[in-house]
Amino acid sequence: MTQESSPVTEPRQKKVERHARLSVAPMMDWTDRHCRYLHRLLSREALLYTEMVTAPALVRGGAMHLLDHAPEEHPVALQLGGSDPEELAEAARLGAEAGYDEINLNCGCPSDRVQSGTFGAVLMTDPGRVADCCAAMIAATDVEVTVKCRIGVDDQDPEEVLPEFLARVGAAGVGRFTIHARKAWLKGLSPKENRDIPPLDYDLARRMIGLFPSLHLSINGGIATLDHAVELLDQGFDGVMLGRAAYHQPADILCAADRRIFGHDGPDSTAEDAVQAMLPYIEAHLAAGGRLNQITRHMLGLFAGRPGARAWRRMLSEGASRPGAGPELVEEALTQIAPDLAA
Ligand SMILES: Cc1cc2nc3c(=O)[nH]c(=O)nc-3n(C[C@H](O)[C@H](O)[C@H](O)COP(=O)(O)O)c2cc1C
Repeated sequence: MTQESSPVTEPRQKKVERHARLSVAPMMDWTDRHCRYLHRLLSREALLYTEMVTAPALVRGGAMHLLDHAPEEHPVALQLGGSDPEELAEAARLGAEAGYDEINLNCGCPSDRVQSGTFGAVLMTDPGRVADCCAAMIAATDVEVTVKCRIGVDDQDPEEVLPEFLARVGAAGVGRFTIHARKAWLKGLSPKENRDIPPLDYDLARRMIGLFPSLHLSINGGIATLDHAVELLDQGFDGVMLGRAAYHQPADILCAADRRIFGHDGPDSTAEDAVQAMLPYIEAHLAAGGRLNQITRHMLGLFAGRPGARAWRRMLSEGASRPGAGPELVEEALTQIAPDLAA
């Protein structure tokens, strides 16, 4: 189905939109279920994203375990990678059935593996296909379908590409986008370099707010503090998405988020309380045959910048993979930060 032939669908359920004022970005190998569980303890409101799950893995590979998540994680969005409308529609249906609150299509990831499957950032060159994919996903599920995109790839002109992309995909029924405000260079840069080297263009993204007043637009890329996030919301963006800062300094970004971004009355959550609340979760994980390090690796940055942070990080990173390591190690490491709490 082309953009011309697709009906302009009413935006889908908007129940998650409120939470999208602040979201934690999808990050492969990082935002797994343990990471999301931790982030949810720090913020009740922020929207959390899974790592990208490819539609072929779900639909052809039957890898349903990739959809596993805890009820506590909500609101949580499933990010899909793919470029085949039917396959994505089926994957979206499976995601909705598994309980996800939103299905997001990845149009921003530049890795080789993803390029070879014609999905991720390369889809910026084919907005018609993205529109077809989204229309099929929307038809397959009642859960809101959203898109995370770049401003263009390679030698494309973002001034032309981004508005064209938003118009065509918006016409297919997508009402909410996250714009990673830099190009992806598909040849010559590694995925990591592609997150830093192409320059950020917040101004272009900001102009989209005026051009597309009915779309919900979140800005992503290079936002390192909650102050900066608030500033961007004040400038008119509907949402902000943080990736690396939220992962490396989760407490700095998320503890005050419910108050500052979502208007809750205090008190803010604390990293110490989150650690205490992780203990039963860790115990359950170990009892089910999991390893401590699978959880604690996401907790290393919890006290970043505070006295004792280095000792906390060292104790966890050195001790958590030792055989028999358990929640006591986490409690002991916490004494480096807050002796009174862990006494
Ligand atoms: C380790 C890592 C893995 C990532 N994996 C994904 C992914 O699976 N899907 C996606 O859309 N973006 C992915 N990204 C990009 C982030 O979602 C985000 O767009 C990017 O890091 C820029 O935001 P930031 O400057 O706040 O980190 C990844 C980023 C990192 C650091």
